[in-house]
Amino acid sequence: MTRSHFYNETSTERAERVKDYSAQGEPGFKLLIVGCGMIGREHMRVATLLGRARIHGVYDVDANSISLAQEEFAKYSAQPFQVYQDLQTGCADPEVDAIFICTPNFTHFDVLQQIKHSGKPLFIEKPMATRLQDARSMLLLAQDYPGIIQLGMQYRYKSQYLDAFHEVKQQGSLGAIKTVTMSEYRPPFLDKVKQWNKFNEYSGGTLVEKCCHYFDLINLMAGARVETVYAMSGQAVNFVDFEYEGRQSDIDDHALVVMRYSNGVKASFTLNMFSQELYEELGVTGEKGRILATERSSFTAGTRSKASIMVEVAGHPAYTGLDVTYPDPIEPSGHHGATFFEHEAFIDQLEGKAQDSATCEQGLWAMLVASAAQHSAATGEVVAAKDYATAQGLADVLVW
Ligand SMILES: NC(=O)c1ccc[n+]([C@@H]2O[C@H](COP(=O)([O-])OP(=O)(O)OC[C@H]3O[C@@H](n4cnc5c(N)ncnc54)[C@H](O)[C@@H]3O)[C@@H](O)[C@H]2O)c1
Repeated sequence: MTRSHFYNETSTERAERVKDYSAQGEPGFKLLIVGCGMIGREHMRVATLLGRARIHGVYDVDANSISLAQEEFAKYSAQPFQVYQDLQTGCADPEVDAIFICTPNFTHFDVLQQIKHSGKPLFIEKPMATRLQDARSMLLLAQDYPGIIQLGMQYRYKSQYLDAFHEVKQQGSLGAIKTVTMSEYRPPFLDKVKQWNKFNEYSGGTLVEKCCHYFDLINLMAGARVETVYAMSGQAVNFVDFEYEGRQSDIDDHALVVMRYSNGVKASFTLNMFSQELYEELGVTGEKGRILATERSSFTAGTRSKASIMVEVAGHPAYTGLDVTYPDPIEPSGHHGATFFEHEAFIDQLEGKAQDSATCEQGLWAMLVASAAQHSAATGEVVAAKDYATAQGLADVLVW
């Protein structure tokens, strides 16, 4: 089947299709994981679960991360993997078919510079970079790159968002859409190796680091170019007294952002990071009604998420709500099953099948909204996105 959009299939169809996921194929592709921290280990786990690729090797600058990866991997796989002492040896290894860049945000650009000569297919974690100029260079590189480059915007594959996109874009259930609202309530940022996520310089800022996922989804849902961005944000509760190596944390823990798009769609995003539990919500309204897509989850070990969609359109079977949580073993495998389908999209592309996974161009648009919002919050001004992009030197790569 040729899929032209990630939302062509509903989450239920996806779950049904991969019920016998182990029969999908053999682990033909060999992956190198660069950075085996929290998400690198999730990729190792999910790649193994999907079973169409296997972990050939890892490279990390931190011995503890490597030990953790070895210990965890041994619990679910009897296969050995290489630990490379340097990046060049890993990426030059002819056995390596594709490379996952799972290092902290501020290192993505440098790591890419070091491995781009390999021409191997790349998966790059989000956000693609911390600076718009670096993201621009990455987009230019991607245009001539011989292999695929997929960004780690796997929230597209969260069941409730897939289904919301399916309703709006595939089924046209709402008619022309008018407003898009998204929100995330969650506990504070987790511990990271060397605490890079507590500092704007290393993360790119909270709205770039965490919220590029949501701006990607809002951009896609609006289906137009962002025109204006206005935001307020601050650091109210989290890490206000946190210091690492003598440096005070400076990251925002809450934000409100409003956007207007060139087709008249109005959107908003709310972030709160001093909540007890995780709650995400997407609301879309159109001529014919409203969609509400939600996810409840927790950082408490052993708890499961619950995803649902409500389509308030006369006569719709999901009018009063539908549970769309992915089933076992997909849901517990990483980001409530989204990472599983992100891997499927990547492997499909390695096999030459069409998939519209996140591109560097889409990653840059998401970063632009996030960065404009951070600029607005810092200055108190409404940001005209095109002027801001031009001032940031992006006029040659973004088409309005
Ligand atoms: N897609 C998602 O939902 C999602 C979720 C979590 C993290 N991420 C992204 O993944 C990346 C990593 O995040 P994390 O949570 O795993 O962080 P982490 O701190 O847990 O792990 C990062 C690892 O990279 C290693 N590292 C640092 N510099 C390196 C270098 N130059 N070469 C090789 N290894 C290096 C560190 O030693 C560490 O082991 C970040 O960009 C983050 O934003 C994405």
